[in-house]
Amino acid sequence: EYKWIFEYPLPIASVKSPKQTFKAPSGADIDYYEVELKSHQKQIYPNLPPTDMTGYDGMSPGPMFIMQKGREAVIRFSNNGPSDMSVHVHGQYNRAPFDGWAADTADPGQYKDYYYPNAQNARTIWYHDHSEFTTGEHTYHGQSGFYILTDPEEQALGLPNGGHDITLSLDAKVYHANGSLNYDTNNNAGLWGDIIQVNWQPWPHHKVEPRKYRLRFLNGAVSRTFSISFTPDSRPNSKIDFHVIGSDGGLFSGPVRTNNLALSMGERYETIVDFSNYKGQNVTIYNSRGMGENADYAATDLVMRFVVGDTVTDNTNNGPVPSYLHNVPAIPANAVAEKNFAFDRVGDKWVINGVGWADIEHRILTKPKLGNVEIWTLTNGNGGGTHPVHIHLVDFQVLSRTGGRNTVLPYESAGLKDVVWLAGGETVRVVARYAPWAGLYMFHCHNLVHEDHDMLVSFNVSTLSQ
Ligand code: C2O
Ligand code: CU
Repeated sequence: EYKWIFEYPLPIASVKSPKQTFKAPSGADIDYYEVELKSHQKQIYPNLPPTDMTGYDGMSPGPMFIMQKGREAVIRFSNNGPSDMSVHVHGQYNRAPFDGWAADTADPGQYKDYYYPNAQNARTIWYHDHSEFTTGEHTYHGQSGFYILTDPEEQALGLPNGGHDITLSLDAKVYHANGSLNYDTNNNAGLWGDIIQVNWQPWPHHKVEPRKYRLRFLNGAVSRTFSISFTPDSRPNSKIDFHVIGSDGGLFSGPVRTNNLALSMGERYETIVDFSNYKGQNVTIYNSRGMGENADYAATDLVMRFVVGDTVTDNTNNGPVPSYLHNVPAIPANAVAEKNFAFDRVGDKWVINGVGWADIEHRILTKPKLGNVEIWTLTNGNGGGTHPVHIHLVDFQVLSRTGGRNTVLPYESAGLKDVVWLAGGETVRVVARYAPWAGLYMFHCHNLVHEDHDMLVSFNVSTLSQ
């Protein structure tokens, strides 16, 4: 029943243009965008009725933003969808009122103007719904898109660009026989999905030239972790080497070579993959089973296929991967506080240090002082299951992992992260500087079923000593 695997092309999101540019009192330009959240239908299966979805500008994936560092933006998100809306741009520091606080929802018929500083180094960011208790359902039905931040330093590197720079959102779904999406979350444990999608197309193919490509991966799934590798037709049992050049917080100081890439939900990794040795053949992305705690199905070991042509018609930015990419800032070692957070299951809920989002009185778990460096120890306790831990506002360094894989993978430690894979039984330590702004921010599990049931809490960055 999976006959159409690799039959349909990879969809590429359209790039959003600003509606207007304003002058700030400082003289700086501020780009103003308008996005309308609305329901739409998409033909996912050729033989079934179209699927009802809700997406930004009525598209899934949503429109792609390409933002220049140093150029601020305001996006008016109008909610003309069927349910409440709160938009989180995941991967940059936003001031607290514009960070998509789960309870700060706009009802259908309302809009909210979000201000984005775009002040950090180039990186692959994504945006998605963050409404309390319904983040998973909303994201699953189409509310997410890419938000690319670029800067002159990155542009000077000569990395593959234009049509050779591709955003790939990995996802997994379940459909009913009538074409509608099935969001059955298995007693709040998760939704792993038997249908693997990339940019909302099940098992797509993409035509490439025999040259280098920059492939930016996002795990945009609700609960499925991925562990991907590339295999060419000519060597069916092999995995080709590629370079990982960046992660959540942007480019590494230099490329990291690997033949496998593990992504838990919300994580981004940027790669350079060279197809030049595979002229006229297919290179298939496989997903290895057995990592994380996924339910697997007939074709969940397949992701997508690159169909490599015979000739290079555009050889721009096809040189060697630069050995130096970016100065990754070191987080000072003098942490002033060490804190412990335990991720547990209690009944049919998930909690952090015993607290869930519905516990309004207790859900501010900690109050880092603005500018302080803290080490957080994250422990996966009762209930197991992968908890991809996402801390808003900060970029962190992964320091250690014990109790499971006992290793921080080279590409996990080569850059700064905002999500870390915390598998069953594992303890992971991360260090971050709680800056640049004070305010109330969230941290949570990025298995969105866990997040909605109730593994979402907050921290209050404060200018006062605690
Ligand atoms: Cu990607 Cu708090 O979310
Ligand atoms: Cu979790």
